[in-house]
Amino acid sequence: MDIKFVLNGESVTVKAEPMQSLLYTLRHQLGAVSAKDGCNEGECGACSILMNDQLVNACLIPISQVAGAKLMTLEGLKKDPKGMLVIESLLKAKGVQCGFCTPGMVLALYALLVENPHPSETEIRTAISGNLCRCTGYGMIVDAARIAAEKGAGLW
Ligand code: FES
Ligand code: FES
Repeated sequence: MDIKFVLNGESVTVKAEPMQSLLYTLRHQLGAVSAKDGCNEGECGACSILMNDQLVNACLIPISQVAGAKLMTLEGLKKDPKGMLVIESLLKAKGVQCGFCTPGMVLALYALLVENPHPSETEIRTAISGNLCRCTGYGMIVDAARIAAEKGAGLW
């Protein structure tokens, strides 16, 4: 079937079986490889993207459910000053080590700050609770969220 949706501000149409995952479609048909294939079963958050402004695990979503939706991956977020602020804050706080979790983490922090520009530590930790990081111990990612919140005052 043909499925039409908006990816990073551009209208796209893909041909796919209805149950093919959104993650597979992004990575193998649309070149949006920032969404990572970690567990492919909704456990790690490496495939996190925004769908209609909500954080979702792309590995769990059949492509047929995406018809008409608005999607944002890290490729699109890099064109948004707020997205770049989150990326720069992660780098500044040394919240990026191997980088595998980073695209999903950026999307999770971005979604949090859009919703809540002044999050508490508990709110930050809750917002990233679905995104596993095997490298940083999370403290540096929490610091990054604080930096992005402070530097982005007025932006969010
Ligand atoms: S790859 Fe989707 S949650 Fe792990
Ligand atoms: S930086 Fe390596 S998994 Fe998070």
